[in-house]
Amino acid sequence: MYGTWGVFLGGILLLQVLQLSMGLDNGLALKPPMGWMSWERFRCITDCKLYPDECISEQLFQRHADLLVSEGYADAGYEYVIIDDCWLEKNRDNDTQKLVADRKRFPNGLNALSDHIHKQGLKFGLYQDYGTNTCAGYPGVIKHMKLDAQTFAEWDVDYVKLDGCYANISDMATGYPEFGRLLNETGRPMVYSCSWPAYQEDAGEMPDYESLKQHCNLWRNWDDIDDSLESLMQIMDYFAKNQDRIQPHGGPGHWNDPDMLLLGNYGLSYDQSKLQMAIWSIMAAPLIMSNDLAAVRPEIKDILQNRAVIAVDQDELGIQGRRVLSRNQIEVWKRPITPVTKSGHHSYAVAFVSRRDDGAPYSIPFTVNELGLRNPKGYNVQDLYDASNKLGVFQSDSQFITRVNPNGVTFYKFTAL
Ligand code: GLA
Repeated sequence: MYGTWGVFLGGILLLQVLQLSMGLDNGLALKPPMGWMSWERFRCITDCKLYPDECISEQLFQRHADLLVSEGYADAGYEYVIIDDCWLEKNRDNDTQKLVADRKRFPNGLNALSDHIHKQGLKFGLYQDYGTNTCAGYPGVIKHMKLDAQTFAEWDVDYVKLDGCYANISDMATGYPEFGRLLNETGRPMVYSCSWPAYQEDAGEMPDYESLKQHCNLWRNWDDIDDSLESLMQIMDYFAKNQDRIQPHGGPGHWNDPDMLLLGNYGLSYDQSKLQMAIWSIMAAPLIMSNDLAAVRPEIKDILQNRAVIAVDQDELGIQGRRVLSRNQIEVWKRPITPVTKSGHHSYAVAFVSRRDDGAPYSIPFTVNELGLRNPKGYNVQDLYDASNKLGVFQSDSQFITRVNPNGVTFYKFTAL
């Protein structure tokens, strides 16, 4: 008698433990999401008379969906077209209380736009805010969570970014999971991007990563990125200094998000652009561009579409990398990737980042062993930014010399043999 009950209760307990450990069970974002989002480049430009090509409008998102395809970004893996803040009317619909997209700037409504995006084979993302208002002051979801989740599903949304302005930080630990549950309840699969830890960190509180993994597909850990090397470096330093508590939690279905790619805008040089792309790939970061895709110079487009670098970001193991070494202002960032040898040795993506700005490219030797690469049979080394640079096979005691431009990067794949 007790035996049967014991097995039964044990089974229930096991199911609960499994549920807890499986994380957000929507089967989405098994690789870091890739796409395009309006905020960093287009902010809250709403004057379409003055800035017809830049204002947050139906036209902007249709144009970028088209450009993602025609310029080859979709083929390289960029998939989500995400509307950030400033898409809403200042008030909800009087009768239904539903959210309404700005009637002048989105004259055909969001269903027409999402159809356009879907017809291009792409996916549709939308920004909202957990609080009373979005960061730019438009209505937030707080008192209408169920209605808004349903409205998102009606609009065929595939990705939701939920920001955290004008909200009580102490409510977020329950409120964000609740909105995620309501999204799931609609039956429409939607990637769920949470900003809750960024607000907690700002307030000096420690995010609960286990809960994040359980309830969100990705989360913004920290401050917004701006269009400068300084901002990029601050974000890199934040992730490196806090890597012991951040890095273990990134993985398939649940990613840390250091914010958008700046490439194609005003602030980063060619070398700095390569640097962001390499480090974001090491960090298994979502690759979400925010730029005017019609204005991206060919050499920057080549970086954004570099298949070898994207393959690192999208590596199926989904292990986030780390900053492992710093010498003479050259930092080494490293990520374990496939293929893995039969004896269990990983291959690695290794980036050498120069924090130097003293003029000439800087040559620096490391032994392969010093990089922490100890496969007894050695590694075949490939330059991820220059396929013509044939490097060959290196053993653990081999010396590996790299020459890095000021504020630049060199980026290699060490394939374990
Ligand atoms: C916050 C977010 C940004 C962007 C803006 C929009 O600052 O972190 O990514 O969404 O709000 O107002």
